[in-house]
Amino acid sequence: MDMHKKRKMRKENKIKNNQETFVNTSSWYPGHMAKTKRQIIEDLKMIDIVVEIVDARIPKSSSNPDVEEYRKNKKSIVVLNKSDLADKKETEKWIEYYKNKGIVAVPVDCIKEIGLKEFISKVKELGKDILEKNENKGRTGYKLKLMILGIPNVGKSTFINKISKKTSAMVGNRPGLTRTKQWINLSDNILLMDTPGMLWPKQSDKEVFTNLSFVNSIGANAIDKEETAYYLIKFLLENYKKNLESRFDLEIKDIENLEEMEEIREQIARKRGAILSGNRINEQKLADIILQEFQTGKLGNITIEKAK
Ligand code: G4P
Repeated sequence: MDMHKKRKMRKENKIKNNQETFVNTSSWYPGHMAKTKRQIIEDLKMIDIVVEIVDARIPKSSSNPDVEEYRKNKKSIVVLNKSDLADKKETEKWIEYYKNKGIVAVPVDCIKEIGLKEFISKVKELGKDILEKNENKGRTGYKLKLMILGIPNVGKSTFINKISKKTSAMVGNRPGLTRTKQWINLSDNILLMDTPGMLWPKQSDKEVFTNLSFVNSIGANAIDKEETAYYLIKFLLENYKKNLESRFDLEIKDIENLEEMEEIREQIARKRGAILSGNRINEQKLADIILQEFQTGKLGNITIEKAK
């Protein structure tokens, strides 16, 4: 077996081990998941519109498969959050993808507070018939009730914070609503449950694990940074070569084999002083640079997962 094949196998084994580490160190275990699921199903009885928040760079990997079930007899909206970091063209394709499934998707940037107003108007549009139905039954003043669902780190708390600041403050207990739940008034006819439904990622899926590692959604102790950065560079070379070229001031020809990729990695390392004696790449430093620059958007707007 040649050196590169061996190296690739070593990397793949490591990734597999990392997944196991993640499963073991994660706070999600079967009992916890079952309890959370029961609570969500119970809470959903009060809810008119389910809001799933995903990471716009990895909409599928940052979604939990159970959401399909929660959406079944409900209206639903997907918030493509962190859209400031995603590739705009790809975000448009994702909006179309959800539209074809009958789901409204709204791109949001919680940091610059972009898309929050659009979110509210989509909710109003979506809930119009529910409000009318209630009105016809004599229930004037009915408020649409929303619940936010999402895996850790997609921005649920930030979204709830920003959207409630933009609108108005918490409301006290209302007749007909469970006492233990707090609700936030989003507009004259929209209430948001203040505690989001925390879901778990599909942690046993290798591709999902890698994608979540790219966007820093897996505990730093559970991943191998060097491994993650290696695959991120490979992905960028295959999909966002121009971003690498402009960030590191390089001219990169199309990569045909792993040896050529090694050359590029070395060039990037050299540009950033990540070279050790004997001309070896300082893998740790290179990994820190690549991951940090990708995660903070310095490498440009990048979407990892394509809509299909
Ligand atoms: P969670 O409740 O779903 O777990 O997520 P939370 O709101 O805590 O947000 C996770 C991180 O994502 C936070 O960064 C937050 O500032 C960032 N974030 C949320 N929305 C957006 C967005 O629209 N754009 C960008 N660029 N970032 C967003 P953090 O506390 O610094 O954590 P980390 O980034 O170091 O993980």
